[in-house]
Amino acid sequence: MMIATRELTKRFKSVTAVDGITLDVAEGELVALLGPNGAGKSTTLRMLTTLIPPTAGSAEVAGLDVVTRQREVRRRIGYIGQGNGAGHSQRGRDELISQGRAYGLPVRQARARATELIDSLGLGEVADRAVSTLSGGQRRRLDIAMGLFHAPELLFLDEPSTGLDPQNRANLQEHIVRLRREHGTTIVLTTHYLEEADSLAERVIVIDHGRIIADDSPERLKAKHVGDRIVLTFHSEEDAGRAAHLLQAARKDDQVTADNGPAQVPEILEELRTAGLTPAAVETRRPTLDDVFLTLTGRSLRDETPEA
Ligand SMILES: Nc1ncnc2c1ncn2[C@@H]1O[C@H](COP(=O)(O)OP(=O)(O)O)[C@@H](O)[C@H]1O
Ligand SMILES: [Mg+2]
Repeated sequence: MMIATRELTKRFKSVTAVDGITLDVAEGELVALLGPNGAGKSTTLRMLTTLIPPTAGSAEVAGLDVVTRQREVRRRIGYIGQGNGAGHSQRGRDELISQGRAYGLPVRQARARATELIDSLGLGEVADRAVSTLSGGQRRRLDIAMGLFHAPELLFLDEPSTGLDPQNRANLQEHIVRLRREHGTTIVLTTHYLEEADSLAERVIVIDHGRIIADDSPERLKAKHVGDRIVLTFHSEEDAGRAAHLLQAARKDDQVTADNGPAQVPEILEELRTAGLTPAAVETRRPTLDDVFLTLTGRSLRDETPEA
């Protein structure tokens, strides 16, 4: 296991930010911690990266206790915190070389490694410009290059794509996937973007109020907690009411939502026709991770987390 926590807990005075998280992450996994603002995602990452000590419980990273073997843990991991990348006039390449020097590399090796990272993160065109002139997406990639300098086995990224436009977000995701594919890096990232967790991670850990409320692949989370649906729109609320009764499904205004998959559409239409009902429109709806969150908590993640 690259990460093993047992009842990991962090309290700040009266606030329990992380409330007994027990979690195993195997080598090579790409895991997203998904949850609304204030759920405890950053605090979890900060404990795993040894930046703050737990109040209770334990955590091991690469087999090392985060409290007693802090220094060794730090050597094995890369951490890109929430909202790094302050603008300044240094060139990206120099910033990377300084990072290597800070890790104790001789300057020639630091230069070579900087060039390697610049190439692999697609920063070739911009590495020799002042950091302050880079776009948000370019800066975020530079942050990642910094975190990767010492080729960590495990990379933590706190909200890597918050504040990026969709194009830059997609580009960043591609780099993260590639990193994992080419180097086998174990990656744990946090996000409040549902689509990002869905498309990027093969394992999504949903966190709410400092607790894990679900932990599975996006597909299984959706199948287990929500399932497919069929939405039928009728010409009148009266028809919709009759159909809802017949199908034992939920109705809202002139729409009826049945918890069935696309394969059952013909059967349902037949049943309606027999009762003299013809819908005006039929759609099948695949669930999203937001539907999962809604089912689990009664709240929508979208409502709670407005776009940055
Ligand atoms: N240093 C701190 N002092 C007091 N409260 C904190 C501190 N850091 C985080 N919190 C609180 O802990 C909770 C979890 O915060 P955080 O881990 O940052 O959530 P997330 O990253 O999921 O948005 C929030 O209620 C936050 O206000
Ligand atoms: Mg956070």
